[in-house]
Amino acid sequence: MLANELVGREVYLLRLRAAPIAAAARPGQFVMLRVAPGPEPLLARPFSVHGVDGEDLFVLYQVRGRGTALLSQAAPGDELVIWGPLGRGFELQARRPALVAGGLGIAPLGFVARKLEDKGIPFQLLSGGATREAIEGLEKRLEALLRGRLGRGPVDKLRSLVAAKTKASGSLSSSTIPFSGTCTSTTIDGSYGEKGMVTLSLQNSFSLPAAYRPDAVLACGPLPMLKAVAGMCAEKKVPCQVSLEAPMACGVGACLGCVLPAAAGGYVRVCQEGPVMDAAALDWERIEA
Ligand code: FES
Repeated sequence: MLANELVGREVYLLRLRAAPIAAAARPGQFVMLRVAPGPEPLLARPFSVHGVDGEDLFVLYQVRGRGTALLSQAAPGDELVIWGPLGRGFELQARRPALVAGGLGIAPLGFVARKLEDKGIPFQLLSGGATREAIEGLEKRLEALLRGRLGRGPVDKLRSLVAAKTKASGSLSSSTIPFSGTCTSTTIDGSYGEKGMVTLSLQNSFSLPAAYRPDAVLACGPLPMLKAVAGMCAEKKVPCQVSLEAPMACGVGACLGCVLPAAAGGYVRVCQEGPVMDAAALDWERIEA
C-alpha cells in the first residue's frame, strides 16, 4: 500500500500498487480487500475501484465497521490482501450520460468519469449528500482525478450555457457542449450546492433541451436513491444502469449472501450478475429501500 489519505468525514483514499488488477479493472468493477496479516477481520470486504494510474489502483472507502476501521489505520508500506477485479462494470456507450452519485456512490463513478473524459464523451455528474461535509471532499478528490477538468454549477447554469452557445452557433447540437464534464451538487440541508436530493438535479437535467438531455443514467448510492432514480428513468424511457451494494462474503457467486429480487422472477447475485446492472432487470417493488 502506497498511501491512505483522509479525504472526507471518515472517508479515506487508498493508493495501492497492484499492477495486474490496475491493468484489468473496468469502471464499476470491485476488488475484495482485507488487512493482512492476522485473523481479524476474517472476511474480506468488497470495494469499488475508484480509479487507476499506471500500476496503481485507487479505492475510496468509508469507515463503517471493524474491517474498515482497521484499514484506516494501515500505513504506507503495509501489505493488504487483495483480489479482483470482480463483477460486471458499466457499459459506456452513451453519448451524453448523467452520472448520479449519492454520497460515497461517487467511488465507482469517479472511474467512469475519468474514462469518459479520456474518450472525450461529455457527461453531467450529479452529486448529492446530506451535508457539505459529506460530499465536498469527495468532489474535490474527483476533480483532482480528472486533472481539474470538471466544470461547476447547477443544471440551471448548464442550461444558460447551452442557450448562449446555441445563440452563438445558431444550431443546437451536442458537439457544441463547451466542456467535458460538469458537476452539480445538492445537499439535504442546503449547506453546499442546491438544497434538495440528487433526484432534483436529475429532474432538472431531464428538462434540458433534447440535444443536452442525458441519453443514459449511471447511478450509485443508497438503495432508496437508486430506486427513485430507476423509477424516474423508466418514466422518461432513459436507459439506467445502477451499481449496487450488498453484503458480500465470497465475492464469487458461491455464498448467495448478496442476492436481490430480479424483474424476471427469482434473484440475481450482486457479485456475479452485478454489481452494475440494468435497473430494469431488478424488481424494485420487492426491494426494501
Ligand atoms: Fe457470495 Fe455474492 S458474495 S454469492
